[in-house]
Amino acid sequence: MTDQQRDPFTPDPGARTGDATPPSQRIDTTVPHPARRYDYWLGGKDNFAADRASGDAIAAAYPPVRIAAVENRKFLRRAVTYLVREAGIRQFLDIGTGIPTANNTHEVAQSIVPDARVVYVDNDPIVLVHARALLTSSPDGATAYIDADLRDPEKILNDPDLLRTLDMSQPIGLMLVAVLHFIMDEDGAHEIVRRLVDAMPSGSHLTVTNGTLDFVPPELAAQADAISARSGINMALRNRAEFGRFFEGLDLVEPGIQPVSQWRADDEPQPRPSPAESAVYAAIGRKP
Ligand SMILES: C[S@@+](CC[C@H](N)C(=O)[O-])C[C@H]1O[C@@H](n2cnc3c(N)ncnc32)[C@H](O)[C@@H]1O
Repeated sequence: MTDQQRDPFTPDPGARTGDATPPSQRIDTTVPHPARRYDYWLGGKDNFAADRASGDAIAAAYPPVRIAAVENRKFLRRAVTYLVREAGIRQFLDIGTGIPTANNTHEVAQSIVPDARVVYVDNDPIVLVHARALLTSSPDGATAYIDADLRDPEKILNDPDLLRTLDMSQPIGLMLVAVLHFIMDEDGAHEIVRRLVDAMPSGSHLTVTNGTLDFVPPELAAQADAISARSGINMALRNRAEFGRFFEGLDLVEPGIQPVSQWRADDEPQPRPSPAESAVYAAIGRKP
């Protein structure tokens, strides 16, 4: 649905996932969800006891996790700004959107170029419930929201709202920010990224962040699986080589693979959080 079309609250919200249940009834508050836990770490209000318990379980073992969440969100703003200002990107596919908060992709892009077009995708019904806040495009641009799963890239690429909103013959900014660590290797994380990039023309850019254990003390890294199990959400925390594989065949934009708090962060307040405090890799690659 584009912003000119259906209100996200009217019936049919489950059409994209094949679930006809209204999104508010699809929200399960008894188990933690990544979108709501991230909202909790960012200081938002759209979270429930299970999300807070999961967030606290991680924070007990790794106190900087809130800094990591805030730094990831700041990176998203810097990345969109770079893509619009320096790479000339005018359209975005933002998968794993999260609950709308400050500096959503279309707001950052359209503050620079009002005609930017953005398609958002998330599989969490709570994001769908809040999708109205993402459908606030400037009159010259467009936004759309698709209720779909990253693990089904064909469905995303063939969605009529995507095809109406984006011109797939022109470069796309593919944003996979803090979402790939919810897709395990055995679920085809790298193949999914390849399929999406293959569908985009030369000049498109892939932006990824992914949690990592590379910077945390070894004794904490050794407990990561147990901590993850306690938190109720499995995460694929990737090392530098595993992260770098997402960019095979692409040209890394300077300064390459960096801790998320360091990537083109000269204009952020100094000193920057250390790699150990942000524990997330970030990079952008250009399709030649
Ligand atoms: C940590 S939030 C990141 C939000 C935003 N990209 C950012 O970086 O600020 C991760 C988001 O990915 C979504 N997500 C997780 N697994 C997904 C999947 N398989 N398909 C689509 N979205 C997914 C979650 O619902 C959540 O909204």
